Amino acid sequence: MKLGVGKKPAADSPPAPTRIEAIGSVADRLEAAGVEHPEDEARALLRGAAGLTRLELALAPRAPLSEDESRILSDYAARRAAREPVSRILGERGFWTLDLTVAPGVLDPRPDTETLVETALSLVAGKHDSPLAILDLGSGSGAIACALLSELPAAWALAVDLSPEACAATAANLGRCGFSDRAYVVRGRWAEALQGGFDLIVANPPYVRSDDIAGLDPEVRLHDPALALDGGADGLDCYREIFGDLPRLLAEDAVVLVEVGFDQAASVAALLAVHGLQIERVARDAGGRERIVAARLAPSPT
Ligand SMILES: C[S@@+](CC[C@H](N)C(=O)[O-])C[C@H]1O[C@@H](n2cnc3c(N)ncnc32)[C@H](O)[C@@H]1O
Repeated sequence: MKLGVGKKPAADSPPAPTRIEAIGSVADRLEAAGVEHPEDEARALLRGAAGLTRLELALAPRAPLSEDESRILSDYAARRAAREPVSRILGERGFWTLDLTVAPGVLDPRPDTETLVETALSLVAGKHDSPLAILDLGSGSGAIACALLSELPAAWALAVDLSPEACAATAANLGRCGFSDRAYVVRGRWAEALQGGFDLIVANPPYVRSDDIAGLDPEVRLHDPALALDGGADGLDCYREIFGDLPRLLAEDAVVLVEVGFDQAASVAALLAVHGLQIERVARDAGGRERIVAARLAPSPT
């Protein structure tokens, strides 16, 4: 019998890394790849690879990784180092109080958009138990519709998107959150085929200037669909397309809210005014930038 040939005895193998050691080495790799918040992201990937909650990880940070967990984590780390977002790697994103599926070819919903939800809810305060009719234009993952339906128990929503992938993702997330019986999903070009009246119209349309897309972070440029980003030469094309339909669609006392780019609030407010809407509120995101414009139909002169 030959000794020292073939597979090494298990006793000679290096010990499996602990969870905390694995987080450290993934964080180093992500930092070298230029990823922001590498430690937080490494933790999220580890939790995803090992199927752990935050609490489970906090309670047992020195548990060793299994072979399967190490293999999955190594794949996740390579993908994140190539600048694929964590939410796409894990296929999930927390939005508002909900866990949503993040589907390929569909915009990954952003925390910024929670400002739109928060502002919308404050503008319908006092009507939270009313059967409000909501229209979500460009629904993407369905994040806004799901969040609003989660807070407005008697409301129903119509979600519209031009992208078949987005329509499927909206329907899937509405189902996942348990709202399918209060929502409809339609594939279409903004509101062109719709009739009124909706009590709450929300939209987070594409608003990036076409020339700016090449300079976006790889996480956005390479993974979010162009249809969800490109707002034309000045970023305002979609607002121009949408706003002409609003007077026809808004019910009495209805409110419309749109998300805008950080330097677009004044231009978007001016476009709303052209269509007979008056600004109700301009809300700022957590960074203090004007990101939501809310408006109502101006009272007609008597
Ligand atoms: C910035 S994403 C917003 C997605 C989602 N509402 C959110 O906030 O995460 C814009 C969405 O508008 C959709 N869209 C782009 N052009 C459209 C059009 N002409 N008609 C309807 N939807 C459109 C895109 O497919 C995309 O899902």
